[in-house]
Amino acid sequence: MAPSLFSLLLLSTLSLLHLPQPAAANLHTSTTLFRSQPTPEPTSLPATDTPPTTFFEVTKPIPLPNTKPCSHLVLQHDFAYTYGKSPVLADYAPPSHCPSHKFAKIVLEWTATCKGRQFDRIFGIWLGGVEILRSCTAEPRATGIVWTVKKDITRYYSLLMSNHTLAVYMGNLVDSTYTGVYHVNVSVHFYPAVEGYGDNVVNYGELDNGIGSGADLILPISRNLPLNDGLWFEIENSTDVESKEFKIPQNAYRAVLEVYVSPHENDEFWFGNYPNEYISANGLTGTPGNGPFREVVVSLDDLVIGAIWPFTVIYTGGVNPLLWRPITGIGSFDLPSYDIEITPLLVKLLDGKSHKLAFSVTNALNVWYVDANLHLWLDTKIEKTQGKLLEHSISPLSLSLLSNFTGFDGLFVNNVSRSISSSGWVKSSHGLIKTKSVQHFKYSNTMVMGNGGNMQILNQVINFNGSVDTKAPSSSVHSTKSLKTFGLHFYSDNVDKGNGSYANVANVTLSIDEKMQEVSDSETSTSRLKNVQNGQGYMLVKGNLVVSGLGSTQQEYHYTGDKSCYFRNVSSSNYTILHDEESNTCKYHESSPFSSRRGAAVRWWLPLVVGVVASGGGLIHKCITGKVVGCITGKVLQICRFEVLQLCRFEARWWDGGGLEVAGGGQEVGKSCR
Ligand SMILES: *[C@@H]1O[C@H](CO)[C@@H](O)[C@H](O)[C@H]1NC(C)=O
Ligand SMILES: *[C@@H]1O[C@H](CO)[C@@H](O)[C@H](O)[C@H]1NC(C)=O
Ligand SMILES: *[C@@H]1O[C@H](CO)[C@@H](O)[C@H](O)[C@H]1NC(C)=O
Ligand SMILES: *[C@@H]1O[C@H](CO)[C@@H](O)[C@H](O)[C@H]1NC(C)=O
Ligand SMILES: *[C@@H]1O[C@H](CO)[C@@H](O)[C@H](O)[C@H]1NC(C)=O
Ligand SMILES: *[C@@H]1O[C@H](CO)[C@@H](O)[C@H](O)[C@H]1NC(C)=O
Ligand SMILES: *[C@@H]1O[C@H](CO)[C@@H](O)[C@H](O)[C@H]1NC(C)=O
Ligand SMILES: *[C@@H]1O[C@H](CO)[C@@H](O)[C@H](O)[C@H]1NC(C)=O
Ligand SMILES: *[C@@H]1O[C@H](CO)[C@@H](O)[C@H](O)[C@H]1NC(C)=O
Ligand SMILES: *[C@@H]1O[C@H](CO)[C@@H](O)[C@H](O)[C@H]1NC(C)=O
Repeated sequence: MAPSLFSLLLLSTLSLLHLPQPAAANLHTSTTLFRSQPTPEPTSLPATDTPPTTFFEVTKPIPLPNTKPCSHLVLQHDFAYTYGKSPVLADYAPPSHCPSHKFAKIVLEWTATCKGRQFDRIFGIWLGGVEILRSCTAEPRATGIVWTVKKDITRYYSLLMSNHTLAVYMGNLVDSTYTGVYHVNVSVHFYPAVEGYGDNVVNYGELDNGIGSGADLILPISRNLPLNDGLWFEIENSTDVESKEFKIPQNAYRAVLEVYVSPHENDEFWFGNYPNEYISANGLTGTPGNGPFREVVVSLDDLVIGAIWPFTVIYTGGVNPLLWRPITGIGSFDLPSYDIEITPLLVKLLDGKSHKLAFSVTNALNVWYVDANLHLWLDTKIEKTQGKLLEHSISPLSLSLLSNFTGFDGLFVNNVSRSISSSGWVKSSHGLIKTKSVQHFKYSNTMVMGNGGNMQILNQVINFNGSVDTKAPSSSVHSTKSLKTFGLHFYSDNVDKGNGSYANVANVTLSIDEKMQEVSDSETSTSRLKNVQNGQGYMLVKGNLVVSGLGSTQQEYHYTGDKSCYFRNVSSSNYTILHDEESNTCKYHESSPFSSRRGAAVRWWLPLVVGVVASGGGLIHKCITGKVVGCITGKVLQICRFEVLQLCRFEARWWDGGGLEVAGGGQEVGKSCR
């Protein structure tokens, strides 16, 4: 195999590196082995007519209305030597050429090409200082690569409707060794709303209940321009606290803090960092430590108000760069942001004075990039809202640690948990609304070191159990619950090959299991996402360059919602897609993720063309468009006839006799879901 092909791969991210899991051969005698080293350009580049490789992250497509979008190229730029320079700036103005300003969906699209050799680079996009995308670039090949990231940015509607400075920062470095220049286009697509597009129409005019629709004002909790870097705060150690002062309008009645986080350099692989006692006992000075637990803590005027136990995003050069070609790691092209409902604490901000939001990271090593957006809902009918904090509690971190090692080999178990809750009310023209917000976290990390410190096996699970409940004067109740499980399994073994090179075998499994439930009065909607990625790789590494190797990845993505479903099963090996299966058909036998037994309600959407639907006892139905022409209601059966093409939602119940009772206009009706 031609080494030149592989010498283009760079291990890990950013300019200063350590091994993904630092248990490398002779690490204790030769840490410089894993530092960035320039290497000569390959002598022969492959033919230029080879088409570029398309990289992608598996995710469900954004549901779009059937309208023609107004598209807006907001930035076109070539990111060459941009490290430590000002972000690239552009003037953003809302679209003036669209017939309507009522949009159902707004989608951000990033498209980039790159050729040559380059590290994976973290980048961010900010509009008026509000971060709207955090992402990692793909690593190029000599024959070139191309990739696209699409993100639903409808929640930033109010921000997108006025003029702002758009800022894009990507710390890229180009010299004679690292030759990849990223050619980037950033576009925004505005999809006009259509009458009757049902729940997907975002109603930003009148606030019915104000919940579920986009915020009226979004304040940046990030660093101000001008600066020569990203607008994120940089948290460098466990005592570092970064903060920003801000003021909010006194007519706010709801507040949500959206936080973006990404770990780098010594904490890029925080989940595999060694306990400090292991480092000092083995003289591994310089190896990233502080153990494998990290928590991003958010404080308001020095009171801890929420936390983030982040998903383990692995960037495109992480662990073994060959794993992420062309299927990239979960979250690497669109890093998740985390919402904290802070409405119960809103009273603290309603005095018209300046307040401080601060971020810190428990056990942090250099460096975490953290910033946030404060989403605020404003009352147009009154000048001042009032509030009261009823309860706020934060449990101390509950830690249990098992540490048992002899020399380089051993076992470490870290279990941590924490709960944060607050409740309070806000009085506005919508009445006195009580909100209770709860976050429960559980973390478990088992780390096994073997083979004289060259082998590391990690099993990490983070459970997040969060809820927001509101109660309005009309006694209408709204509640959202989310249960998230972030899984990581990691196996890595190194063999020293002499001459500053080593061979590595690594298997990794990343998973997200997310159940959401939203209850609004009597309406319940649920969704579930199961996203699992498995990778196996081996590689020969010299310096920070992958000389040869192979990576294989398999991913299964299952999303089941009330309105849509999405399934993808894709696998790749050595840059080639082996299997790719996609479907948007709902499998109805999968019942509600929150209650899978008999008696539980199950809902779904069905398309109907002049149909007849019969429903079993206790059934209710609701349609987005079209008219119910007539119904015959019997004792346990209701039969309705519909006039036009429409989407209808049904609720059925499991009967004690077993089985799901559904009657429809023919068997097919019960099977399709688009
Ligand atoms: C927004 O920007 C556009 C284009 O630069 C400009 O024509 C318009 O006057 C600006 N609007 C406001 C309110 O400043
Ligand atoms: C960016 O847009 C320009 C103009 O539409 C196009 O020529 C170019 O190929 C695009 N580049 C990328 C990376 O998509
Ligand atoms: C932590 O980082 C901050 C910010 O860079 C620095 O001022 C401080 O000295 C550091 N503390 C320690 C203990 O290294
Ligand atoms: C520590 O590890 C040793 C060797 O594997 C084992 O014999 C011992 O029982 C372990 N101790 C504890 C407390 O787990
Ligand atoms: C840590 O948590 C795991 C999973 O919940 C459990 O199996 C294990 O016994 C716990 N270990 C310790 C040391 O607390
Ligand atoms: C969520 O947390 C609450 C409070 O600890 C607990 O009662 C409930 O069982 C948890 N739910 C799940 C699914 O973990
Ligand atoms: C180490 O490198 C030298 C010079 O490049 C080469 O002659 C020798 O065979 C290499 N040794 C090993 C074990 O690869
Ligand atoms: C790593 O994956 C390979 C290929 O699936 C498998 O043969 C091997 O047993 C795995 N190793 C471990 C330790 O999981
Ligand atoms: C996904 O595809 C693999 C073959 O690549 C197959 O073995 C597996 O059963 C499929 N999974 C599902 C859920 O269809
Ligand atoms: C990977 O594919 C390349 C051709 O694209 C081939 O030369 C190489 O042998 C393959 N590697 C493995 C380990 O199969």
